[in-house]
Amino acid sequence: MARANVALVKYWGKAAGPGRQPSNTSLSVTLDGLLSAARVEAWREGAADRAAWVPPGPVADLRRFVELGRRRLGITYPLDVQVTSNFPVAAGLASSASAYAALTTAMAAFAPEPPSTSLLAVLARHGSGSACRSLLGGFVQWRPGDDDGAVTQIAPPEHWPLTILAALTETGPKRVPSREGMRRTATTSPFFDAWLAAGRTDLSVVREAVASRDLSLLGPAIERNALRMHATALGADPPLLYWEPATVSAMRAVWRLREAGVPAFFTIDAGPQVKVLCEPGDADRVTTALTAVPGVVRVLRSRPGDGPRILSEPPLWVPR
Ligand code: DP6
Repeated sequence: MARANVALVKYWGKAAGPGRQPSNTSLSVTLDGLLSAARVEAWREGAADRAAWVPPGPVADLRRFVELGRRRLGITYPLDVQVTSNFPVAAGLASSASAYAALTTAMAAFAPEPPSTSLLAVLARHGSGSACRSLLGGFVQWRPGDDDGAVTQIAPPEHWPLTILAALTETGPKRVPSREGMRRTATTSPFFDAWLAAGRTDLSVVREAVASRDLSLLGPAIERNALRMHATALGADPPLLYWEPATVSAMRAVWRLREAGVPAFFTIDAGPQVKVLCEPGDADRVTTALTAVPGVVRVLRSRPGDGPRILSEPPLWVPR
């Protein structure tokens, strides 16, 4: 079982060449409320792996991942794999990060030799880049490289018990998947190099803000970083616009809260959902404001969460 994460400094762009290296260093917080579980069993009767999403979803990538994972981990027999999440998977809420982190962790338990941290990170990355950050709890940095230090915890979850709210907006037209969005941005947006340069500054500010638990430093930096990512993507050809009207209304609602003296700050990934960070004491007020935004259908609440775990029993929310 593994948790989703939200990037405070975004990964947006892959370096040229093999190995799916990110163009930039990112930093995320693992979310305790958004979970994926992977059930993995030996499938000795089968000639090939069996892989399924619950509820059903596209399995080609999942199957390819299982095959690659078996090869890298030295598992010589087919596996039967089922992955499910406790939150709406089509909603652009980093479901692939928690799903592939859960699957990497569960498959690792079948490896004849205990795999290294770096092998697990490289493997998870093949499912989804951001999945390697869900291999750890709390505040996690991912920098380019295949060594054990590429994915590191910079602070444990209890270091800073912030509230992270995810405002789900009505699902609009299907978004462009991150992989294609990044490729298009890196190859066609004239702002891409500026995005990489600005990201380096954002990263050092966010690291400092996390270390000192300073929301007044963290908040503006994460909003800036998210808006810069989207500005760069808007500059792609054809342009990438991930927002819906409700996304913009939720952003304005957060700014209005701040004008009223509530320190709340948003970030947005490659989709229309808005995640908002605030102090736990302000969480009810921020939830009320977000729920009142037309087009916001649900608000999910999280805190910084732990890394993956092997469970002996499936959690209660897993369909039997
Ligand atoms: C905007 O990890 O889904 O959420 O590596 O191509 O599978 P692939 O992309 P993915 O992209 C995440 C993009 C982001 C920012 C982030 O999580 O850092």
